[in-house]
Amino acid sequence: MKFVRFIMKHAALASVPKHIEHFSKFSPSPLSMKQFLDFGSINACEKTSFVFLRQELPVRLSNIMKEINLLPDRLLTTPSVQTVQSWYIQSLLEILEFLDKSPDDHKVLGEFVDTLVSIRNRHNDVVPTMAQGIIEYKEAFSHDTVTNLNIQYFLDRFYMSRISIRMLINQHTLIFDGTLNPIHPTTIGCIDPHCEVGDIVQDAFHSAKMLCEQYYLRSPDLILQEMCSKKNHPTSIVYVPSHLYHMLFELFKNAMRATIETHDDSNNLPPIKVLVSLGDEDMSIKVSDKGGGVPFRKMENLFSYMYSTAPAPQIGERTRPPLAGFGYGLPISRLYAKYFQGDLQLYSMEGHGTEAVIYLKALSTDSIERLPVYNKTALKNYKVSQEADDWCIPSKEPLDLSRYKVPK
Ligand SMILES: Nc1ncnc2c1ncn2[C@@H]1O[C@H](COP(=O)(O)OP(=O)(O)O)[C@@H](O)[C@H]1O
Ligand SMILES: [Mg+2]
Repeated sequence: MKFVRFIMKHAALASVPKHIEHFSKFSPSPLSMKQFLDFGSINACEKTSFVFLRQELPVRLSNIMKEINLLPDRLLTTPSVQTVQSWYIQSLLEILEFLDKSPDDHKVLGEFVDTLVSIRNRHNDVVPTMAQGIIEYKEAFSHDTVTNLNIQYFLDRFYMSRISIRMLINQHTLIFDGTLNPIHPTTIGCIDPHCEVGDIVQDAFHSAKMLCEQYYLRSPDLILQEMCSKKNHPTSIVYVPSHLYHMLFELFKNAMRATIETHDDSNNLPPIKVLVSLGDEDMSIKVSDKGGGVPFRKMENLFSYMYSTAPAPQIGERTRPPLAGFGYGLPISRLYAKYFQGDLQLYSMEGHGTEAVIYLKALSTDSIERLPVYNKTALKNYKVSQEADDWCIPSKEPLDLSRYKVPK
């Protein structure tokens, strides 16, 4: 029996490249917020969702697996990246098992939900494991600008793909596991059709405040202002509260750290101000701090996966979650904002403070998934080579103008 299982496992593994090749030829199909809601509304059809996902999940997995293979060899072969890759292969194979099963069989539908749950659990640690791979690579090899750009480009797409795959899995498992969310009975899967942005601001601020007090024994206050272009309308949108919470929590941790570290000799901490503004097109959320800001020269680095000004936390340090240090707060938050066609931008004035603005779509019809696709353009982006700069590089030495002196 063991031997048969061994043979079958190896036969399945051998077929993996063929499957990836096949499914990566399809482009992922971005869903709109409205489509997500329809999948989960009263006439929700588990069969339709099952048939869609058994094709769409392999497509999204295979598209990104093609890109993993384009990573520099020395990164691809690190144990951490190998582990991540093996999780993707395993999950792809598990979903493919359902391709020839009948959507009319209740048992099959139940097994599919179980499989999705186990896939979600398997992939829980993808971000720290991938981050570990990058650290191993950075420590072992000197890295040039082009490799850094490639890794940045890849990680943005890889983590975006992951956010989208988890969204699909969460929607299906939450909607079709047969139970109602007892705390938020009106949510549809993980989407709240009336997501009150002000409430999420308060929640995220409260959590960041607790963490901040553990570290610094004090924390700044919050001043929240909400505005809506239409009078007496609530400042709410159709959104995924957990995504918004994630972004705000990261922004608040950064704003609190900056505020405390620049005002450590003062008894009064300037508050963190939040302005929530709902217009016809955009829902914008501005977080302002007086934490001394960031020099303009460094602004570009802030969204890099390889940049943090905090000491790196020990990996595996389980005692308390770190306030800062992996440098993943801003780049991942920006991905969450971009996922439904929004953005996250930072404006800073060194010596004063920073304003971070989250832009989201006000209308659910505009909130459509933004997904990476593996194609020739993507391939080309991995092949960029270092070319000479077409702007002069200023010399460090002052120019000796005496050479140009005209004899009198
Ligand atoms: N509000 C802010 N004020 C000053 N510096 C900031 C602010 N937000 C972010 N930064 C800078 O950007 C860096 C990256 O932030 P982030 O991506 O959240 O990673 P981390 O907080 O783990 O370092 C921080 O280390 C900090 O130097
Ligand atoms: Mg941070």
